[in-house]
Amino acid sequence: MNSQIPVTTLNDGMKVPMLGFGTYTMNGNQGAQGIHHAIDAGYRLIDSAYNYENEGTVGEAVRRSSVPREQLMITSKLPGRYHSYDKALITIQESLYRAQLDYYDFYLIHWPNPKQEMYAEAWQALIDAKRWGLIRSIGVCNFLPEHIERLKKETGVLPSINQIELHPYFNQEEQRMFHEEHHIATQSWSPLARAKNILGEEVLQEIARAHNKSISQVVLRWQYQLGSIAIPRSSSHERQCENMAIFDFSLSETEMSKIASLTRADGRLKDQDPAEYEEF
Ligand SMILES: NC(=O)c1ccc[n+]([C@@H]2O[C@H](COP(=O)([O-])OP(=O)(O)OC[C@H]3O[C@@H](n4cnc5c(N)ncnc54)[C@H](OP(=O)(O)O)[C@@H]3O)[C@@H](O)[C@H]2O)c1
Repeated sequence: MNSQIPVTTLNDGMKVPMLGFGTYTMNGNQGAQGIHHAIDAGYRLIDSAYNYENEGTVGEAVRRSSVPREQLMITSKLPGRYHSYDKALITIQESLYRAQLDYYDFYLIHWPNPKQEMYAEAWQALIDAKRWGLIRSIGVCNFLPEHIERLKKETGVLPSINQIELHPYFNQEEQRMFHEEHHIATQSWSPLARAKNILGEEVLQEIARAHNKSISQVVLRWQYQLGSIAIPRSSSHERQCENMAIFDFSLSETEMSKIASLTRADGRLKDQDPAEYEEF
């Protein structure tokens, strides 16, 4: 059951697939079945979060699967209300108990919550949890360059990954350049912009027709060619497979720029600007 997904190496030496699977709202037995199907389809990187209340569901899917645990990469995330050092360490352990896992491959700070201003303390807890073997690789989500600079200044340790909102309506060009300069991998959340308006975009329809692919495949291929690790979610096995079939065609420079032209300064899906927005 070897997966066809190309792999990249992170700044801490971890190897990770260039396409993963999102699980937001996938909970309970139905969620576990859906995630199990995604693993069957060939996904090896599975995203979750303490705040999705589905770490247990992901753990159950891992146990239902015949793919050995060590071939899977499981992610969870620290919520904003547990940024203090002691609470962060307890939360990481609680995340592991919920999933019934011995370690997470990735543990990320979910939001910087800059007004609360405790993310550097939380980061120190992640650094120590990694040292103690609870996590293999540590990263962040939704961190702006100034937040990452602060982590570097206070701890000397850069995240391996920054998971950010990235889709054709918000292509994050500057943030991606910053990641490249600092050897931080970009991971795209809502990579399909939740598959609403995007499916009606003429420019995407035209490119999809030219390659005999679906719009979702074109968007995910665009993500891959940008160098970002997309984590699309789908509850349907058919669409899970469809979203993986993106490694047998490529987009031209012109097509890449046409997709980039859909980007707008206010293109975020829910106006969640990490400089202001906080989530607990
Ligand atoms: N770090 C953060 O702050 C953060 C924030 C948001 C999300 N995330 C993570 O990112 C993951 C992905 O983002 P997302 O779930 O928000 O959105 P998404 O992956 O962009 O879109 C998911 C939606 O697209 C539909 N879809 C998937 N494949 C499709 C296809 N081939 N054709 C048509 N429709 C398709 C799905 O419907 P069906 O299920 O019916 O296929 C679902 O409604 C999340 O699940 C979560 O793990 C992280």
